[in-house]
Amino acid sequence: MEFSLSEEQLMIQQAARDFAQNELLPGVVERDDAQNFPWELVQKMGELGFLGMMVGEQYGGSGLDTLSYVLAMEELSKVDASASVMVSVNNSLVCWGLETYGTEAQKEKYLTRLTSGEAIGAFCLSEPEAGSDATSQKTTAKDMGDHYVVNGTKNWITNGSSAEIYLVIAQTDVEKGHRGINALILERDMEGFVIGPKENKLGIRGSDTHSLMFNDVVVPKENRIGEDGFGFKFAMKTLAGGRIGIAAQALGIAAGAYELSKKYAKERKAFGTEIANHQAIAFKLADMHTKIQAARNLVYQAACDKDSGEDYSLSGAMAKLYASEVAMETAVEAVQIHGGNGFVKDYHVERLMRDAKITQIYEGTSEIQKIVISRSILKE
Ligand code: CAA
Repeated sequence: MEFSLSEEQLMIQQAARDFAQNELLPGVVERDDAQNFPWELVQKMGELGFLGMMVGEQYGGSGLDTLSYVLAMEELSKVDASASVMVSVNNSLVCWGLETYGTEAQKEKYLTRLTSGEAIGAFCLSEPEAGSDATSQKTTAKDMGDHYVVNGTKNWITNGSSAEIYLVIAQTDVEKGHRGINALILERDMEGFVIGPKENKLGIRGSDTHSLMFNDVVVPKENRIGEDGFGFKFAMKTLAGGRIGIAAQALGIAAGAYELSKKYAKERKAFGTEIANHQAIAFKLADMHTKIQAARNLVYQAACDKDSGEDYSLSGAMAKLYASEVAMETAVEAVQIHGGNGFVKDYHVERLMRDAKITQIYEGTSEIQKIVISRSILKE
């Protein structure tokens, strides 16, 4: 399949590449060590339009297609997957969910802030006992007439403390099972909203991941997204698109590891010649290149399906499953090609290897993607 990119798409790809090289690369090792991400960088991403890429211009977004978003995600992820997960969650889960299913008042109140870099959002589905098994929500949103009272705990929330706007999935009517779940918009300064300590993670360490506690948080009814009981479907529909963003992140990590490895192999000498001249290394690069191209085709296809109004649950799940496997495999091989230097932080590939792992876990583990894929192909 041939994906010919328009001039605008090429420009966006270049802008993301420049931003990644000029603004994200300096300090990426230190941010990973310190587990932080300066707010000025978030604001810059907002100014450059990376935080609301697919949102309509009337809400401050860039009004771009999914393929442009995927191109930008790929470039940012080559250098800093902590930055790109912020971009991914804000774009695919929070902004897309709000723009597609929110009321006009919700869009006016929240979207402009989320696209500009004034505020970022978080998507709160996972719980201590509801990770893959997402229908088992223990967080409750008790219906009190004109408002809900929210109680419970959410786990592993990306942008946990840096966000201001949180989309929270909670159970209102237990008897209705997943049809009794709602999606509510919470704000960080609501009374009873507690942010837990930052998780100390293997990878994407610059991104802030927290548990959140809700103690009798009063949320007005106007903050519910969609009809009563739409919350679980909202989460599933939103995640179907989110998986394309994470697939693009995995693709970027793989491509970043490959580019560093190719450059290194052409410079580093052993046994009297550049190591790229040894077949053991050249074949590794050949495998990496082939698999990355296959992953890229799947990711771009899923983006194009979304842009053309086709169902993208299947293609998005396939893209995420395959691209995340390629990311992990490529990053491990990249460390091997770099030898002792690969084990050292300054060469970047050990970070890419640590960052790759989460792409097989969040927004649905590889096993969950296989559930989505197998159910889809078996009902055909
Ligand atoms: N679109 C619309 N509706 C969907 C849907 C989709 N893609 N997928 C499922 N549904 C609907 C079903 O139609 C069903 O509704 P009805 O009964 O009314 O028909 C309902 O949702 C329940 O579906 P299932 O019976 O298939 O539910 P299940 O319990 O078998 O679970 C699952 C399905 C796919 C395994 C789901 O639980 C799942 O995706 N789990 C993984 C959760 C996940 O991805 N978590 C990631 C956390 S977010 C994150 O990581 C963000 C971050 O910070 C980076």
